[in-house]
Amino acid sequence: MNPLDALARDPVIGSYLHELTERVEARSQSIFFRNQKGMVLARALERLPDVQPSSIDADRDCIRIGAPGDIDGNQTTSLHEVLCALKPWRKGPFEIFGIRIDSEWNSSIKWNRLAGHLGSLAGKRILDIGSSCGYYMFRLAVKQPALILGIEPYPNFYFQFLALARYLAFPQVHCLPLKLEEMPAMQRCFDMVMCMGILYHRRSPLDTLLQIHGRMVPGGQLVLETLVMEGDNEMALFPEKRYAKMNNIFFIPTVACLTHWLTRSGFEDIQCLDISRTTSQEQRKTDWIDTESLADFLDPGDPQKTVEGYPAPVRAMLLATARRR
Ligand SMILES: C[S@@+](CC[C@H](N)C(=O)[O-])C[C@H]1O[C@@H](n2cnc3c(N)ncnc32)[C@H](O)[C@@H]1O
Repeated sequence: MNPLDALARDPVIGSYLHELTERVEARSQSIFFRNQKGMVLARALERLPDVQPSSIDADRDCIRIGAPGDIDGNQTTSLHEVLCALKPWRKGPFEIFGIRIDSEWNSSIKWNRLAGHLGSLAGKRILDIGSSCGYYMFRLAVKQPALILGIEPYPNFYFQFLALARYLAFPQVHCLPLKLEEMPAMQRCFDMVMCMGILYHRRSPLDTLLQIHGRMVPGGQLVLETLVMEGDNEMALFPEKRYAKMNNIFFIPTVACLTHWLTRSGFEDIQCLDISRTTSQEQRKTDWIDTESLADFLDPGDPQKTVEGYPAPVRAMLLATARRR
């Protein structure tokens, strides 16, 4: 089903349908299908085996779709080709009719840091910013929320979601190919917002937190996961050019600094659930990416540092509540 048709039926999100439709169309026609990339990926999806999986299981570390016996040899070849065309697979893992997608990130590790802290999600509306292939949305879907909306502007990840959703057909899970800054204001629409792996990519993290706050119902829950600096001071690192070979990293705060950003952006009850150094168990090169990975981003002589000499990646997972205004 067209996600916009499904969103139209939601009594809260539906009132933004006109703006959402305009922005999705603008993106599809201009940027999203630039260089025909979107068209090529859309055509690849047409070659997905047209079968219903004998069963699905999104409530496990490796999300499983069907069993090897559900499809024949030709269909397995065709499925493998489509999945390869959708590389790089950053988030996962998945097992799709017996084909294991060993993604660059073992996303179950991040999920397991969070899952035990989530209360009931029944009936809630959730926004996942930068949802990638939808791994976390599928894990959340098992908890019976009313609606999960992902936004993911990068074509490969958006089409990965479409490929997976072809079989993981949760009626309440949708993804739009939008950037956060392209979304309508959608005031007070979401009971929970997932902002994971996003904030350090933002030039203005406080404005991002304010934009998120505006979209949340008062009392709603923010899941914030981001790179942090270790230590108790109230500082943020601002790398000169690159951090771990990435040229789109701006502010990396301590947890104390991040807590101040959250407080000053309208959040309260801020809890830091976890602080973990990123290890090669969580992020590493696999056959499903063609790029470098963590080991290449660290100083070979001192893995406590990035190749630029900054502290190696450490991530924090926080929960915060949107204050009533
Ligand atoms: C580091 S990944 C994090 C993915 C996932 N949320 C996680 O924590 O594993 C950042 C994601 O945000 C997407 N993204 C990039 N720019 C964005 C923007 N302006 N608005 C929303 N998402 C964006 C990327 O394509 C990518 O999928």
